Amino acid sequence: MKKTIAHGMAAGAVLLMAAGQASAAPTGMQVDTKLFPYAPSLINWEKSKAGFTPPETCAECHPDQYKEWTGSMHALAFQDPIYQGELNKAVKAVGHDVARQCEGCHSAAAVVTGEVKGPGLTGLGPMAMAGVSCDICHSVKGHTGWQTPYHQPENGSFILSPGRDTQDGAVLTKYGPYKGDAVCGGGFHECVESPLHKQTELCGSCHQVHHYQAQIPIEATYLEWKNGPYALKGITCQDCHMVDFETFLRTADQFQKPRRGEFRHYFNGANFLVYSLVEQAAKKAGNDELAANAHRKYEMAIKRLQAAADLEVSPIYRNNRLAELKVRVKNIRAGHNLPTSLTNVRQVWLEVTARDRKGKVLMTTGTVTGTGELPTEARIFNSEGMSESFHFTVDPWKLVAFSRHDSIPPRGYKDVYYGLTAPEGGEVSVEVKLRYRQADQQVAEALLAAVPADVDLEKIYGLKKVPALPVVDMVERKVSFSARK
Ligand code: HEC
Ligand code: HEC
Ligand code: HEC
Ligand code: HEC
Ligand code: HEC
Repeated sequence: MKKTIAHGMAAGAVLLMAAGQASAAPTGMQVDTKLFPYAPSLINWEKSKAGFTPPETCAECHPDQYKEWTGSMHALAFQDPIYQGELNKAVKAVGHDVARQCEGCHSAAAVVTGEVKGPGLTGLGPMAMAGVSCDICHSVKGHTGWQTPYHQPENGSFILSPGRDTQDGAVLTKYGPYKGDAVCGGGFHECVESPLHKQTELCGSCHQVHHYQAQIPIEATYLEWKNGPYALKGITCQDCHMVDFETFLRTADQFQKPRRGEFRHYFNGANFLVYSLVEQAAKKAGNDELAANAHRKYEMAIKRLQAAADLEVSPIYRNNRLAELKVRVKNIRAGHNLPTSLTNVRQVWLEVTARDRKGKVLMTTGTVTGTGELPTEARIFNSEGMSESFHFTVDPWKLVAFSRHDSIPPRGYKDVYYGLTAPEGGEVSVEVKLRYRQADQQVAEALLAAVPADVDLEKIYGLKKVPALPVVDMVERKVSFSARK
């Protein structure tokens, strides 16, 4: 009898130990480093003698795609000073081995070849500098999304294969949307038809960022899309972001896929701030062509932002007197949440003012100040990141949870109510604005102050200090309501 009990206890202790181990290292959320040798970036590289080709070489035979891609956020992904500032902070905080996670998406080839060894731009070749260039996307042979901790694309889970070895030496292989014929590639490369290039998973490998260790999703554009109505209707990222503005409107409004010849390499989103910085830098360097290109992309980004949302304002009466305003903010054309991605950094907010007939202010949220401060009571659609110690953070290596997540789902809406004391009679006029900027003023200043020494903001961009960040009005509505019902 004694023996049995002792035996039972031992078995219990073994079980407890096993349970203890399991909770210290949750196996379901571990990255398998045999499958992902560049972890925390989940890139794979099929190594051969075939190297990566910088975009200027592709441009010789594909000038249109090159022109469209030049000055895009993909072309800027590595040189972007806001990225370089945050990368520099990341390297200082957690070391370069961890910061490779960032580079895996912002300049993938340079991670597998080992060219980038830290923040900064000095001494790097054209392939590293070109960020998300032609030969990143068109060397993607497949993705490994089902082998990641969440079994979905994330953190760069694609396979780079720029070519293959043959008896006659290395041959370059480019993956694209078409079934290539024998002359496809002009003797420079082979062509392989790739269904992945027409699918969202190509983009999702990079547009789904998970914490390098805890693995929780911190930027989730791919997942937001996947759980939304555009995925249901087969509308991909490419269908909205690889077409011109008019085609995007048709795609979004009618759930209609673009025709073959309508695809363009703009990858235009919302980042008018970086486009305007690039325009400034190009003008300063005397490159008028790049300045004009960046300006067109700036205008395109603003048009997209202004097409993304809509506002509905309606009155609520109590005892026959106007008591509240209801503002409905609708995400009408973004294929993911509004805002998406760096939701803890981007800012979309409401400014509302109601006046009586004589112009006296009955209620106001206030407005952003000349030095870039938001009104303290403004309703902001974005998120707040939390570190392991439950403190506010914007840094991706610290962010493991959200204390608030208030973005608007695709084709969805959020209602906001504003109370007011209406006059006895007459009309109440209401002005509502939905506004957007890339970041909080202090966050932008902190990132730009952290750029590595070889990114001279004054020399390159003519920036002596960070000015108040520009704001875009996404939607503006002026309506009047009777003060009495
Ligand atoms: C899985 C891919 C991926 C990883 C890993 C990644 N990023 Fe990014 N990053 C992106 C994408 C995609 C965007 C663009 C999102 C947008 O503009 O809304 C972006 C945008 C940014 C921006 C904003 C740039 C701007 O001009 O507003 C910063 C800063 C940044 N990343 C820094 C980092 C740092 C630092 C790391 C590593 C700790 C990192 N990223 C890791 C994909 C990634
Ligand atoms: C972010 C990924 C990405 C980058 C970067 C990229 N492409 Fe593409 N490219 C695609 C996708 C996706 C398609 C397929 C679009 C479609 O369905 O037709 C494509 C299509 C093409 C095609 C087929 C014809 C066409 O335009 O549809 C060519 C040629 C091409 N790309 C060349 C280039 C060159 C040259 C560059 C660099 C200047 C480049 N690509 C950069 C993703 C990319
Ligand atoms: C010597 C000329 C030449 C160079 C250099 C060149 N290509 Fe091509 N490529 C072609 C030709 C010709 C085609 C056939 C279709 C066409 O005319 O666009 C083609 C087709 C493509 C396609 C479509 C293939 C498909 O199956 O959908 C992609 C993608 C592509 N090239 C990418 C690239 C990339 C990326 C580079 C640089 C690494 C590059 N090309 C460099 C000549 C070239
Ligand atoms: C290799 C990684 C990678 C792949 C693949 C990729 N992207 Fe990106 N993308 C990025 C990064 C990194 C940025 C942001 C750069 C920055 O802000 O500094 C970005 C930026 C963008 C932006 C601009 C966002 C803005 O704020 O203006 C759009 C739009 C975009 N990508 C769409 C796509 C689409 C569509 C695809 C698929 C065809 C795709 N991306 C594939 C890494 C990638
Ligand atoms: C139905 C059209 C549509 C589809 C589909 C779509 N987008 Fe967008 N996207 C937009 C619009 C409109 C904006 C500008 C408003 C905004 O910032 O959300 C945008 C903005 C963005 C931005 C910049 C966000 C920011 O504020 O910094 C990124 C990055 C992006 N999209 C990536 C993607 C990726 C990746 C996919 C596929 C998973 C995708 N988009 C699918 C319409 C679309």
